[in-house]
Amino acid sequence: MTIAIYPGSFDPITNGHLDILKSGAEIFDKVIIAVSFNTNKKGFLPVNIRTKLIQESTKDIPNIEVDFFEGLTVDYARKKGANVLLRGLRTSFDFEYEMQLSQTNHALFKDIKTVFLITKPEYNYISSSCVREILLNKGDISDFVPEPVCKYLKENY
Ligand code: COA
Repeated sequence: MTIAIYPGSFDPITNGHLDILKSGAEIFDKVIIAVSFNTNKKGFLPVNIRTKLIQESTKDIPNIEVDFFEGLTVDYARKKGANVLLRGLRTSFDFEYEMQLSQTNHALFKDIKTVFLITKPEYNYISSSCVREILLNKGDISDFVPEPVCKYLKENY
C-alpha cells in the first residue's frame, strides 16, 4: 500500500490544491493531506478551521485522510509509514523552491520521494494569498476555492 503525504499550509485550500489532491488520490492507495506550518508565513485561518474546511471539501473522496502536524514533514511521514510526498507545480518559480525542499527532505529521510504533479492551466495563477487578498478587498472568490471554503470565508470575513 503506497501512502502519500500532501503537506502544505492550505491557508485556505484552493481549487488548485484540490485538483492536485484528486489526481494524487487516483495514483496512490491513500493520500494524507496534512496542514503544516511554513515558519516564514504569518498564518491567517486557525489550523482547526483549515482542517475542517479541507474535510468538508474532500468528503466525497474515499481514500483521503485529513490531518495536521507540527515539526518536520519527514518525521511526520515516518510516523505515518509514508514514503511519498505529493506536491503541485505551477510555474518555474515553484520549481526552484520545490527542488530545494525536496532535496532537503530527501537528505533528512533517504526513503522519501517527492512526486510532483503539474497544476492544470486554469489553476496556474491561484494561490492562497491571492484568495485572501481578494476576500479582504471584498472581491468574489467563488471561482478560486471549493464551495465550503467560499461559504465559510464569506460568512466570517
Ligand atoms: N494550486 C494553488 N495554489 C498552490 C498550488 C496549487 N496547485 N500549489 C501551491 N500553491 C500555493 C499555495 O496556495 C501557497 O500560496 P501562498 O504562498 O500564497 O500561501 C504556495 O503555493 C505554497 O504553499 P504550500 O504548498 O502550502 O507550501 P508552503 O510553502 O506554505 O508550505 C510546507 C510548505 C508546510 C510543506 C513546508 O514549509 C514544510 O514542510 N514545513 C514543515 C517543516 C519542514 O519539514 N520543512 C522542510 C525542511 S526545510
